[in-house]
Amino acid sequence: MNELIKGIKDHRSIRNFSDTPVEDSLIDEILQAAQAMPNSINGQQSSVIVIKNKETKREIAKLAGNQTWIDDAPVFLVFVMDFYKTDLAAKKNQIQQAIHESIEGTMVGTFDAGLQMGATIIAAESMGLGIVPIGGVRRNPQEMITLLNLPEYTFPVAGLAVGYPKGESHQKPRLPFETFRHFETYQKDGLEAAIEEYDKQMELYLAEIGRPQEGNWSKYTSNIYQYVYYPNVYSALKDQKFSNDK
Ligand SMILES: Cc1cc2nc3c(=O)[nH]c(=O)nc-3n(C[C@H](O)[C@H](O)[C@H](O)COP(=O)(O)O)c2cc1C
Repeated sequence: MNELIKGIKDHRSIRNFSDTPVEDSLIDEILQAAQAMPNSINGQQSSVIVIKNKETKREIAKLAGNQTWIDDAPVFLVFVMDFYKTDLAAKKNQIQQAIHESIEGTMVGTFDAGLQMGATIIAAESMGLGIVPIGGVRRNPQEMITLLNLPEYTFPVAGLAVGYPKGESHQKPRLPFETFRHFETYQKDGLEAAIEEYDKQMELYLAEIGRPQEGNWSKYTSNIYQYVYYPNVYSALKDQKFSNDK
């Protein structure tokens, strides 16, 4: 196994950060790696907002549901779906942009932002930094949009808290590999048994790290997925002109 793959496989989310600042040049190097990722039609429908201002981070931590690690991390990145720049390209050519009105557009923009966050994570971890992604930026999306001054045709997809890790961290086990890698066609056989096995593994893991109240994977996940936990996303998308009706 090469060093890069070893590093990727060692990932764990970090929610305890030291006060050590992160150099601007390091953040730029990491984000240049992110920008090198492939993207749909080379439309480059994404942007990243780098936030170091303590008050802004504190406000985001609140908007994200009092996630204190956003406050504690020296840097917070927001990955933005961005069809504002492509709209400028359309205007330059006297063409009316329509893609932002479609679910396809939202999938393209969020997928590209996700790829870039993936590269950011790998690059940051390779430099000894710790990260935790934050979907909580979509908890109060309209307030996030106002706070970051996001123009029409843009949307905050996810955040990433970045800093040097403090204390020990645990690596969370994943579902059995066979539930993830399917040969040729989707394989339903064996999924229930694999989930059963993983639930037991997660129970042991959660007891070991002192969070038995989370139950296991199926309990934890289904408890969350019985609700639409960020109900304001759709209306905030529409306000940003992502009508998602085509
Ligand atoms: C898109 C995305 C959004 C996430 N949002 C949050 C969040 O708001 N708060 C948080 O503490 N962790 C968040 N996480 C971290 C996940 O909980 C974590 O990746 C998952 O439990 C697996 O644990 P691991 O990263 O330590 O392997 C998010 C992860 C992703 C990929």
